Amino acid sequence: MKLEGKVALVTGASRGIDKAIALAFAREGAHLVVNSSGSSEALDLAVKEISNMGGQCLPSIADVGQMDQVEAMMAVVEKTFQGLDILVNNAGIIRRGNIQTVTEEEWDQVMQVNLKGTFNCCKAASEIMIRQRLGKIINITSVAGKVGDITSAPGYGPSKAAIDNLTKSLALQLAPYNINVNAVAPHAIETEMSAQWSKKKRKSVLEAIPLKRLGKPEEVAAAVLFLASEDSDFITGEILDVNGGYLMD
Ligand SMILES: NC(=O)c1ccc[n+]([C@@H]2O[C@H](COP(=O)([O-])OP(=O)(O)OC[C@H]3O[C@@H](n4cnc5c(N)ncnc54)[C@H](O)[C@@H]3O)[C@@H](O)[C@H]2O)c1
Repeated sequence: MKLEGKVALVTGASRGIDKAIALAFAREGAHLVVNSSGSSEALDLAVKEISNMGGQCLPSIADVGQMDQVEAMMAVVEKTFQGLDILVNNAGIIRRGNIQTVTEEEWDQVMQVNLKGTFNCCKAASEIMIRQRLGKIINITSVAGKVGDITSAPGYGPSKAAIDNLTKSLALQLAPYNINVNAVAPHAIETEMSAQWSKKKRKSVLEAIPLKRLGKPEEVAAAVLFLASEDSDFITGEILDVNGGYLMD
């Protein structure tokens, strides 16, 4: 098993891509901390499903955008597992619209969860990982961080572009401590987020993907698993595309 005995924290982990990542990790022998901003039936179900696979699974309620809540979450993780090997910053939100319709509040919300949430978790987790001289951080970004997007309200793409840069900067800063920092940039994955698309948007998305289908959460999870495992020990600062060929950079 690729993650035997490793301790992994996945943020925003109760459905969609996040749940697929947590399940893939559990299948490979990891102990999981599944974070959510609030308690929900989906979180309870995810915890039950992961626990049934044999490893430990700790639910953790924290808004990743709030540093005090993130620090409290990390303290519980360290006390429970005496360390943290893998952090996956998956929690993310999107707002639809354009520059005319977006509100300042929506801009702030997206930046708070996507960018500040990723920063908060990286900062708190890296304190543990620096002490260990060991760790893997994987940020879930988006193709929207690399190309312009006319359907999401301004905020989502810029937040993801900033996560790409944060990934590379932290890869440099944390390399001396044997901590790898990478990102996975999905595009067009079948989740509740993409289920909000209009028929017109779905059609145009499919037309632009060479593989002519949407991706599956499990396909994103497979890329994240690679970056969480020893198979990628010599890779850091990489933004790995999972996009059906939509963008080849
Ligand atoms: N679905 C896609 O096609 C797609 C494409 C590119 C990137 N992504 C990225 O993948 C990640 C997962 O997306 P998804 O499609 O599974 O969406 P989703 O909405 O199903 O999952 C997002 C998760 O984040 C959680 N979350 C939101 N705010 C939070 C907060 N403040 N604190 C903690 N958790 C919070 C939500 O509860 C939810 O579980 C996101 O970062 C998203 O931007 C998705």
